[in-house]
Amino acid sequence: MTYKALDIQKIRSDFPILQREVNGQALVYFDNAATSQTPQQVIGVIVDYYSQYNANIHRGVHSLSQEATDAYEQARKKVQQHFNAAKLHEIILTSGTTHSINIIASGYSEILKAGDELVVSTMEHHSNIVPWQMLCEKTGAVLKVIPMTQQGTLDMKTFDSLLNANTKLVFVNHVSNALGTVNPIEKIITKAHTVGAKVLIDGAQAAPHIKANVQALDIDYYVTSAHKLCGPTGVGMLYGKEELLKLLPPYQGGGEMIAEVTFEKTTYADLPHKFEAGTPNIAGGIAFGAALDYMNAIGFDAIAAYEQELLDHGTAELKAIEGVEIYGEADEKTAVISFNVKGIHPYDIGSILDKMGIAVRTGHHCAQPIMDYYQIPGTVRASFSFYNTKEEIDQMIVALKRSIAMLQ
Ligand code: ALA
Repeated sequence: MTYKALDIQKIRSDFPILQREVNGQALVYFDNAATSQTPQQVIGVIVDYYSQYNANIHRGVHSLSQEATDAYEQARKKVQQHFNAAKLHEIILTSGTTHSINIIASGYSEILKAGDELVVSTMEHHSNIVPWQMLCEKTGAVLKVIPMTQQGTLDMKTFDSLLNANTKLVFVNHVSNALGTVNPIEKIITKAHTVGAKVLIDGAQAAPHIKANVQALDIDYYVTSAHKLCGPTGVGMLYGKEELLKLLPPYQGGGEMIAEVTFEKTTYADLPHKFEAGTPNIAGGIAFGAALDYMNAIGFDAIAAYEQELLDHGTAELKAIEGVEIYGEADEKTAVISFNVKGIHPYDIGSILDKMGIAVRTGHHCAQPIMDYYQIPGTVRASFSFYNTKEEIDQMIVALKRSIAMLQ
């Protein structure tokens, strides 16, 4: 299949930050898995909100409040359409993936009982491990772990053996932040559903690369953050099937999440407001919608095809350097390359690359179980976006070779 080619130079001109220098060198930004950069189209929406219609939502009868409420609710609609949720109120706007996961984990503390089983994967970000450990401590539920393979994929045979009638929840990421592995979520969901378990998919790393269709995949809960897909930080979403969200108690008490408050008894608002206590990140929510518009106008198929070229190029170039070891070589990957150079600490490489204007992340990437599996302290991670180029990758390779010469 052919996709429309991306006009990379035009796309790059949308991102003011890509014009700047770092340490006297043109910025090469390869830390997209940590946070993506923001195009002028999204920045403009935030400026417009604070310049023209900054007001609290769902509260005032005055015009500014109406305008802000309409724009915020339109953004919710865009999120619904993007992920193909059946109902608008199945989209909860949150402060991000971590908040979304905690809403579910906290809610299950009233549903689970001792002996219930939860299944997590070795390849999770800490935000999809720790809330569940806390839940197990509270309820007496037991956490079981899907092991991983040397290739950086999930051991699906063992996954099968972990499922049984006690399994209540399975949570895996759609894409590993540390390795880029695209996990077989369709299979995981189908198998989990055969024992009646519900599945939460952490879509933080998939969102900038893959458009997840929550109905087609029969996903129970899907969570992600706007800042991974060209939106602002501090906003994200939780999708949940209506019947499941209805079963969960509110996460926080406060304004906006109530139907009626008296000192005798407070009743809660319907979805989605039950989970949206307090004044939200209004500008951020509206900008989340604008970021989806921006990325959809470019097209996710075209983005995926182009990023695959970047991944193939970067992988081949890195492999040609003596002493480089790449972690995570799944057949299906997003444009993330985690690597080390024999005998050199990842932090030292990251620091020298930074001096040459190249931003990569180093460390355990909030995924310590993966590092433990490979018995390494961390990796250098270069994560590409659709606004990066092969020329930038070549610059990183030259810079890396210079770093190695300096450090060895
Ligand atoms: N989870 C983000 C990362 O992988 C912050 O860098």
